[in-house]
Amino acid sequence: MTEIPNSDRKTLLLTGASRGIGHATVKRFSSAGWRVLTCSRHGFPEDCPWEAGEEDHIQLDLGDAEKTAQAIATVRERLQAQGGRLDALVNNAAISPKGEGGSRLGVFETDLSVWQQVFQVNFLGPIMLARGLVDELKMARGSVVNVTSIAGTRVHPFAGSAYASSKAALAAATREMAADFGPLGIRVNAIAPGEIDTAILSPGTEKIVAEIPMRRLGRPEEVARTIYFLCTDSSSYVTGAEIHINGGQHV
Ligand SMILES: NC(=O)c1ccc[n+]([C@@H]2O[C@H](COP(=O)([O-])OP(=O)(O)OC[C@H]3O[C@@H](n4cnc5c(N)ncnc54)[C@H](OP(=O)(O)O)[C@@H]3O)[C@@H](O)[C@H]2O)c1
Repeated sequence: MTEIPNSDRKTLLLTGASRGIGHATVKRFSSAGWRVLTCSRHGFPEDCPWEAGEEDHIQLDLGDAEKTAQAIATVRERLQAQGGRLDALVNNAAISPKGEGGSRLGVFETDLSVWQQVFQVNFLGPIMLARGLVDELKMARGSVVNVTSIAGTRVHPFAGSAYASSKAALAAATREMAADFGPLGIRVNAIAPGEIDTAILSPGTEKIVAEIPMRRLGRPEEVARTIYFLCTDSSSYVTGAEIHINGGQHV
């Protein structure tokens, strides 16, 4: 992997790479020789064994629109090593606020400030990144993958109203983006995970598992493989799709 010069490597910008689905996605793309630029709220952990990780990490809170705009300029600079090309953008980072004791935040329990913060991180952040990096994506005939959720299409027992609404909005934006980015040679798709074994899950998820046709949680690497498919030539005529990764939970 390290033998490939930076100028020849495909590049992914991935939000929320430190844990769960994002972490599995870094591994999937890196093992295929991609350079992965990451961004999340925390700095790059000192003990992380990832090669070239720190110099490819951007510390950013997607809840801050101004800082997100500044980070886009930083990403552009870092892409110079690849002639300014961006092969893929994966909008994976998201927040799912809970009430006291981990309770579900319904429409009434969710403060307006929380609605706004959730929409900034989960919905507006992805749109800002895709619009802001459109020239770089166009140069690569690249691919955007928005990570939505099963909660975007049905009321979920644990996912809050703002979270679910933000994911439904992101699914709609994926269609809009596919229509507008397609003529530029950029594909835009979404993946909608069900119950994947990560830190975002709430206690009590095991009750849902009993109703999932495949009777188990999904694994982060199973999601990462689908994201990889959507960012490579194997899916060259797929755009505007939302792929459900949920063991049949939605049927
Ligand atoms: N796990 C599931 O079952 C499931 C189901 C449906 C959908 N999803 C979706 O899949 C995606 C990944 O989920 P996950 O379970 O892997 O989540 P996770 O374990 O909670 O990880 C979230 C990632 O996003 C980053 N992040 C959170 N807030 C951020 C912010 N304001 N700015 C920048 N980065 C931020 C976090 O890093 P920092 O803490 O360093 O910021 C972390 O790397 C999310 O979009 C989630 O909605 C997951």
